[in-house]
Amino acid sequence: MLGDKLLKGLNDQMNFEFYAAHSYLAIAAYCSAESYDGFANFFLVQAEEERFHAMKFYDFINALGERATIRELAEPNNEFNSILDAFEKALLQEKDVTKKIYHLSDLALDDREHATINFLKWFIEEQVEEEDMFDSIIHKLKRIDDDSNAFFMLDEEFSKRSFTPKAE
Ligand code: FEO
Repeated sequence: MLGDKLLKGLNDQMNFEFYAAHSYLAIAAYCSAESYDGFANFFLVQAEEERFHAMKFYDFINALGERATIRELAEPNNEFNSILDAFEKALLQEKDVTKKIYHLSDLALDDREHATINFLKWFIEEQVEEEDMFDSIIHKLKRIDDDSNAFFMLDEEFSKRSFTPKAE
């Protein structure tokens, strides 16, 4: 049986991952409205990934014989100045997720909850990859600057992105 604080932390993170999916859907909608269909696809796939993350928490909480508590989603940010701005906001969100996962790991370590410590290792690795991916796209977008050909090539590249769940 999990301690109350750790169970609340796992439920908070599950709900935050659902919120992350919601916020990436908002970015996808912005990209679609600007007719950047490849970038829109990139963020639709990202929203699927976040839902996958949320469901990993849902399944884990259930597997421990505890109850997953589904909460209301906050309204995500819908204001973006540019594609670069959207990616910068996405990176900030990922950094926030990383902090939350670290905090959750600290709680699990304090409680010596080894199953939870082990479960969270997947997310620690995942966050390294997510931050690295957003960081590298931001660098590319900055290098591209106002080279519209390179920008449209990147849009084209992202139209091919599809959701592949990361292995355990
Ligand atoms: Fe589930 Fe992108 O963090």
